[in-house]
Amino acid sequence: MTALRLDDLRQHSDILRLRDGKSVTVRFVEPRDAQLLQNYFRSLTTRSRYNRFLGAVSELPQTILEHFIHIGEANRFSVIATMTIDGIETIVGEACYGFDDDIDSFEFGLSIDDRWQGQGIGAALLSNLQCRAAALGASGLFGDTLRSNEAMIALARKAGFSFTRHPDDWKLLRFEKHIELAPEAIPCVSWRLAAQSFTSSAALAN
Ligand SMILES: CC(C)(COP(=O)(O)OP(=O)(O)OC[C@H]1O[C@@H](n2cnc3c(N)ncnc32)[C@H](O)[C@@H]1OP(=O)(O)O)[C@@H](O)C(=O)NCCC(=O)NCCS
Repeated sequence: MTALRLDDLRQHSDILRLRDGKSVTVRFVEPRDAQLLQNYFRSLTTRSRYNRFLGAVSELPQTILEHFIHIGEANRFSVIATMTIDGIETIVGEACYGFDDDIDSFEFGLSIDDRWQGQGIGAALLSNLQCRAAALGASGLFGDTLRSNEAMIALARKAGFSFTRHPDDWKLLRFEKHIELAPEAIPCVSWRLAAQSFTSSAALAN
């Protein structure tokens, strides 16, 4: 993974356009988001939380919440997708992605607020994650889902992921995609520019 200064990363936020013309902002989680994020997870249906965390949880355990709000630690990053509703920034989705050195790939998980599912936010967020991972120099992106999670399987399939068995757990399915791209080929403008600037900083440092 490209070595980065977190200050450089924090400046990044993206505006994603949905098919109905609405826009969603994607930005890194900050420590001030902790309570909002916890409220977001509590407000998901039991089924969505189960699918997201591959088991029963009613809220984020404190240790995991800490991982969410300290972006960049151990090469783990988390983002929230927000919309302005009645003048208030509201979390409508989230995603985490962490770098696995052994396979030069990011593992990720995501969720969308139940009230906002089915409107293209998951697909838009997943495209954005691919740009983020490619800009950080990863060659792949992968995740695990319960075999019963039809929505996630359909979303991953539509986004061009292929499926394999999970190495340790028969209840899970692994989806993976090769995403290695030259900086100039990254489809999201902001991350294309970021990747180009990471490359030139690295060249200057050498
Ligand atoms: C899986 C999830 C992230 C999808 O997000 P979403 O915003 O609802 O998905 P989108 O509206 O962007 O849908 C994109 C595509 O996914 C597929 N899809 C989405 N929901 C689906 C459903 N309930 N059943 C079947 N296919 C579905 C469709 O192919 C859809 O494309 P289309 O709208 O052109 O038909 C969302 O359902 C969710 O948060 N689930 C709970 C948490 C979870 O399961 N996380 C995954 C753990 S890795």
